[in-house]
Amino acid sequence: MRLDILTIFPEMFEGPFSLSMIKRAINKKIVEIHIHNIRDYTADKHKRVDDYAYGPGAGMVMMIQPIADLIDKLKSERDYDEIIFTTPDGDTFNQETANTLSLKENIIILCGHYKGVDQRLRDMYITKELSIGDYVLTGGELAAMVMSDAIIRVIPGVLSDETSALTDSFQSGLLSPPVYTRPPVYKGVAVPDILLSGNDKEIANWRLEQSLEKTRNLRPDLYEKLP
Ligand code: ADE
Repeated sequence: MRLDILTIFPEMFEGPFSLSMIKRAINKKIVEIHIHNIRDYTADKHKRVDDYAYGPGAGMVMMIQPIADLIDKLKSERDYDEIIFTTPDGDTFNQETANTLSLKENIIILCGHYKGVDQRLRDMYITKELSIGDYVLTGGELAAMVMSDAIIRVIPGVLSDETSALTDSFQSGLLSPPVYTRPPVYKGVAVPDILLSGNDKEIANWRLEQSLEKTRNLRPDLYEKLP
């Protein structure tokens, strides 16, 4: 997969994309991430990428020209499956969205800012508008990182244990069961006996029961949707 991220803060991506799963996916050549600085494409002599919104009221809006030029350039080089815009008024990003996007070849993510981006850009270029939740971030960069992480980790070959992404919370519509590691007793609190029994089938049943119980208690909305 090739991911092109369009941002006015390219430095923000340096940390998260140079560690852990994303780094592993890049090293294994499963994913290629290109971070583009929108400011490099502005035709404005003061290098501005935003301007006052038309009409009364305060607020800056990202200008269409630099972003459109950048997207046009990328599109002239390859076809894109999706051009995503991160915005609090988009559809809520969830595991299903991550799974679907993980199967794509080329994706652009445009990180929104200020009061948004000129509506003409959204109408002319954007194929998907996504939010990571009902709250407003300073910018779309964190949202783009969250989405990239969730998308990349489910691409086959990224996680070393191929089955582990499939047993994550939400993949089955259930929350994950509790997990334990050594020591078997800590400050008098023991690991459930069943996990030390060596009986894989009974452990699997126990995990499923725990998942169902946890989902019913913590996320009744998900529990209602179970088949
Ligand atoms: N930009 C600002 N807030 C956002 C959110 N909740 N999701 C995606 N992009 C955003």
